Amino acid sequence: MNKKIAVIKGDGIGPEIVTEAMKVLDRIGEKFGHNFEYTEVLMGGCAIDATGSPLPQETIDTCLASDSVLLGAVGGPKWDNLAGNQRPEKGLLGIRSALKLFANIRPAKLFQPLASACPLKEEITANGLDLVIVRELIGGAYFGERSTTTDENGVEKAVDTMPYSDFEIERIMKVAFDMARKRRGKVNSVDKANVLDTSRLWRKIAHRYAELNPDIQFEDTLVDNCAMQLVRNPAQFDVIVTENLFGDILSDEASMITGSLGMIPSASLGETSLGLYEPIHGSAPDIAGQNKANPIATILSVAMMLRYSFDMPTEADAIENAVNSVLEDGYRTGDIMSDGMKFVTCSEMGNLITERV
Ligand code: IPM
Ligand code: MG
Repeated sequence: MNKKIAVIKGDGIGPEIVTEAMKVLDRIGEKFGHNFEYTEVLMGGCAIDATGSPLPQETIDTCLASDSVLLGAVGGPKWDNLAGNQRPEKGLLGIRSALKLFANIRPAKLFQPLASACPLKEEITANGLDLVIVRELIGGAYFGERSTTTDENGVEKAVDTMPYSDFEIERIMKVAFDMARKRRGKVNSVDKANVLDTSRLWRKIAHRYAELNPDIQFEDTLVDNCAMQLVRNPAQFDVIVTENLFGDILSDEASMITGSLGMIPSASLGETSLGLYEPIHGSAPDIAGQNKANPIATILSVAMMLRYSFDMPTEADAIENAVNSVLEDGYRTGDIMSDGMKFVTCSEMGNLITERV
């Protein structure tokens, strides 16, 4: 098959990790007879430097004309003092919204060869840790109206709003339930319905969806309780579905408890097969350009691309198995290094995984 991929390397370690992921993809193409055609586009800090905008129109157009988008990471201290709507992050939010990617899929799974890096006690992880967060991605506080004003007495005031409409909740429920059906059949819908109106609507729509889909075991969980349960007993969760801001926070927590933030990929999906795939970690400017970054989350993001956008499950398995085999043989980048393991650079890790595909 021939597939067009828009590539956004981004800032910081973005270019290094994406380069490794492209190596792995090329190897998949060779082995399984596919042709992946890349078009590099700018977004984030590098786009601000080159064009003045974190998300040039050309980038949106190229992404829309592609079969999928591969993204490294954006942002860095150089652009931290820009106004909110000119920051690199604005590019990321803009592309999610322009491509109508309302569902963000973030798996958090304990990799057996890295189990010792998990910060939870063994008695807690004994029952396993394998969950997926389905985060609503283009609604809520991230996209609600906001303002900052100063009144006549000099009092500064800022307001963010968190709007949600029924159809936005319903379509993300569908993604979560479909996902649960392919996994262990359980959905926890996370909200703050004891306080927020948006959460009360969320819960109403979630219940309606659950009644129509009785094959899925459904539970409401308040977001504070969910944060606590994730460290107390993560094995109880299969699919967690939640709104944008809660999902942002809980997905960092969920990935951290696996002990391997640098290992977690993500997919952002909409109504069509066009998706955006990126590691969940950031641009790590402190180690950028040093060939030290861990490319595995980006490489696993490519596996998700093959699985969700290109319907190539065998090819996706080949990448995931290659990653596992390299880890089992003790190869580690700095972030996951431990005693007795073999230290490798970013490009060496990419080469090892490529060879084993
Ligand atoms: C994420 C990130 C982004 C978000 C930032 C960089 C805007 O934290 O993808 O989780 O908040 O969505
Ligand atoms: Mg985040």
